[in-house]
Formats: sequence, structure tokens, C-alpha cells
Amino acid sequence: MHIHKYEKLWLGLSLLLIVGFVATITYGAVGAGVKMVDESGDTLNPNALADHPEFGDPGVEKVGENEYEAHIIARQFFFRPGSTNAGQPPITVPANSTVHMYITSGDVIHGFNVAGTNANTMVIPGEVAEITVEVGGPQEYGIVCHEYCGQGHHNMAGVLKVVPETEYNGSAQ
Ligand code: CUA
Repeated sequence: MHIHKYEKLWLGLSLLLIVGFVATITYGAVGAGVKMVDESGDTLNPNALADHPEFGDPGVEKVGENEYEAHIIARQFFFRPGSTNAGQPPITVPANSTVHMYITSGDVIHGFNVAGTNANTMVIPGEVAEITVEVGGPQEYGIVCHEYCGQGHHNMAGVLKVVPETEYNGSAQ
């Protein structure tokens, strides 16, 4: 069978493309260390968050010099802490600190996006999403749920409040 040389060329190029695509996917999965939200290995019972050592009393905790941990629960239709529009305290941290955020859901899938930062994740019941944010000077950031989670989805919002170090009392939520 005779194969025209242009056909051979395109055959070769398309094979190369396939190899290239597989290579980029492999690199993304292994080389670049891209992690899916459920790969932290942390799982928990979304129906027993009250008994959880951290999520039982969610909020901000100092864990080192200028380093904080924030445990946050997403529920229909608020973040605890965070949703000041639903009677919750804001997530309050001092300026120029590193904040490790741990977010889980007590009911359905939610989203968690701190506008203007790198914090942007899905929040899945039974899983803990982890994001570290470096905050600078005093500022308020808006938080939104960006996964449709039911009738009140459009009202599900919160506040991350970065206050001056001198104002931070350490016991804030
Ligand atoms: Cu929670 Cu949308």
C-alpha cells in the first residue's frame, strides 16, 4: 500500500500531539504536584462536626509567630466563622501573617473564594480543603460561595478581616 508522504507527515505529527498531551497531563499530575481537594488525606464525618477537635469549635487559632490556623465550616447558607450577614463573626487575623485555612462542609458541596487572594476551593462534605493565605496590611476581603448549594446560595458570603497587629486580641474568631 502506498502512503502519500504528506499523509505520513500528518500521521507522524498527530501521533506526536497525542504523546505531547499525555506528557502534559502526566506532568500536571505528578511533576507539578497539582493536588485535588480531596487528596489531603483528611476525612471526617460531616454529621459529627460538633465532636471534631477542631471543627467542634471553629475559628482562628495562633500556631506560631505570625502564623494562624482558621477552621471554617460551610453550611446552607453561611460560613462559620465568616458570614457576618448571618450573625457569624468575621474571620479575623492580624496583618502580615500566614493563615492556614481548613474548610469543610456540614451539608452539601459549597465553594470558598476569598476575593483578591489565592483562596479558592470547593468545599466537600467529609473532606477538608486546605489553603494557605499570606495577608498583608489591614484590609477586608469578601468571601463568596461559588458552587450552587441551594435556594440561599446567592446570599452565602463572608468577611475575612485583617486588622492591625496592635488591635488583634488573639481570641477573635
Ligand atoms: Cu454555599 Cu453556594
